Amino acid sequence: MTNRPQRHTQAVSPRAVSAGGLSSNGAAEGHVCTHWESYSARMTQRDPHTRPWWHEAVFYQIYPLSFADSDGDGYGDLDGITSRLDYLADTLGVDAIWLSPFYKSPMKDWGYDISDHTDVDPLFGDLGGAERLIDAAHSRGVKVIVDYVMNHSSDEHPWFVESRSSRDNPKRDWYVWRDGKPDRNPPTNWVSVFSGPSWTFDHTTGQWYRHTYLASQPDLNWRNPELVDAMLDVARFWLDIGVDGFRVDAAHQMMKDPLERDNPPVPEDWQRPFKDMGEYDDFVHLYDLAHPDVHEAHRAFQTVLDEYGRDAMSVGEIHIFDLSEWASYYGHDLDEFSMPFNFHLMACDWDARSIRALIEAVHWNVPAGAWTNWTLGNHDEIRLASRISAGQERLAALLLLSLRGTPFLYYGDELGMKQTAVSDDRKKDPWGDNVEYLSRDGERTPMQWNDGPNAGFSPEGIAPWLPVADDYQTVNVKSELQLPESTLNMYRRLLDVRRESEALRFGSFMVHPSSSDEVLVYRRESDHETITVALNFSDAETVVELRAGRVVFSTVDENREEAFRDSIVLAPNEGVIVRHRR
Ligand code: GLC
Repeated sequence: MTNRPQRHTQAVSPRAVSAGGLSSNGAAEGHVCTHWESYSARMTQRDPHTRPWWHEAVFYQIYPLSFADSDGDGYGDLDGITSRLDYLADTLGVDAIWLSPFYKSPMKDWGYDISDHTDVDPLFGDLGGAERLIDAAHSRGVKVIVDYVMNHSSDEHPWFVESRSSRDNPKRDWYVWRDGKPDRNPPTNWVSVFSGPSWTFDHTTGQWYRHTYLASQPDLNWRNPELVDAMLDVARFWLDIGVDGFRVDAAHQMMKDPLERDNPPVPEDWQRPFKDMGEYDDFVHLYDLAHPDVHEAHRAFQTVLDEYGRDAMSVGEIHIFDLSEWASYYGHDLDEFSMPFNFHLMACDWDARSIRALIEAVHWNVPAGAWTNWTLGNHDEIRLASRISAGQERLAALLLLSLRGTPFLYYGDELGMKQTAVSDDRKKDPWGDNVEYLSRDGERTPMQWNDGPNAGFSPEGIAPWLPVADDYQTVNVKSELQLPESTLNMYRRLLDVRRESEALRFGSFMVHPSSSDEVLVYRRESDHETITVALNFSDAETVVELRAGRVVFSTVDENREEAFRDSIVLAPNEGVIVRHRR
């Protein structure tokens, strides 16, 4: 990458921003405090000539097991996805897809346990199917990024099979092997993300191996140069096939304390930064993740992307909630991830004031010259429609698709799919085996295509790998397309407005002084266009003062389109997009 500006280092927590106050609520438009001016100036920095494709793209995450089953085995597959590209490209209108793993795998963690990085698991098809999918997507102008699981492999990967075979095997050091403590306990007290110790004793050689996740997912040793070369070749393999980038799995986990010190227990006043993680929350994760040399590995990875010189992008799964540390994954010289995945909206209290403070804090922490992203769902989190306040899924969609930064949608959220209850005999997620309430099955149920058998996911008479949600007769693509006011049609209209609006795609961002504790209002502006987005988080009708404009989109009324002079009325939970004359 060329000419990357230095990163902005100021660290601001959401709390600090909301306490400090940005622009005063209710102030007349035109009145801006100094802080707002400098903020807005900063957010306007942009250079249209160097804007890469992924700044403007809307990404859509596909969990391949659950999207479309073309061969009638109950599992989604690559040909199934290819057969639905028209939906993605034309009906919905997204620009890029992210495919969760479809590589060869014993499926202990449903594909995140890879036993051959450069082959496709028969469940999903074959390499030819991957090539067909990528080509077919490209021919529709849709980019494709794939998962790159950096931290671990499957214990069935030939590398691990060799590594565990003897202490002097040449691949021994490709994984992390240690002696236990003198009292025969594991080398450290580190707990696996999925609960239980993150070390397993292997009788063959009498040592322990480390695993941040399942015992069947041994950690790769990124401090071994041969392993690094082999893994970088994996990235080259997929870039050669034609992918446009990677979502990098568990990217903060790989490097741990070289002295392997025990983690301290959490202090009494500790505040959980994200969801309840069970036993994993008993310790402060000081020593078992994100050792500073993790950045070296990410720089090496980025170098491979740069070799391809076609703007290949990377988005790293970084579960770190301290914003300045999170932002460090862009790299000091913007030479690491194109973007660390921004999960902060999913960790934020769902109200106008908290969300506003968070957005401002994220923007302040994103280095100058870098670009952020937003997401409200993925295959690891409770579905959006079941997580936030009832009736606000549409508001959430507008927020996601109108903030400054690349939006990532999760399959089915555009239909309003909810978390599905999965009975014990159908459960699949190994995390749920360890900690029941952390099961991710409910957000991974089959995509709902129509009101027919299996919601159109698998042919009739087949039992899909996870049950289809009960609401599929109304919440499905086919039925929703016929209803002008459906969630799907709202997403389609919203994506249309976004596609036509350079202010929404890459314009500057600033919070508008009409924002209050109930309403979040912000301005998006480009050289040619001024847009205001107003989101009413309350269940009461609210008046918002704005300079003259025209409503061009409403989350609740597909016919709303009116010109106004100085204020608009928002219905409960309504969000609107307003265009102003220049
Ligand atoms: C990431 C994935 C998750 C997986 C874990 C282990 O967090 O998103 O689904 O279980 O890594 O690979």
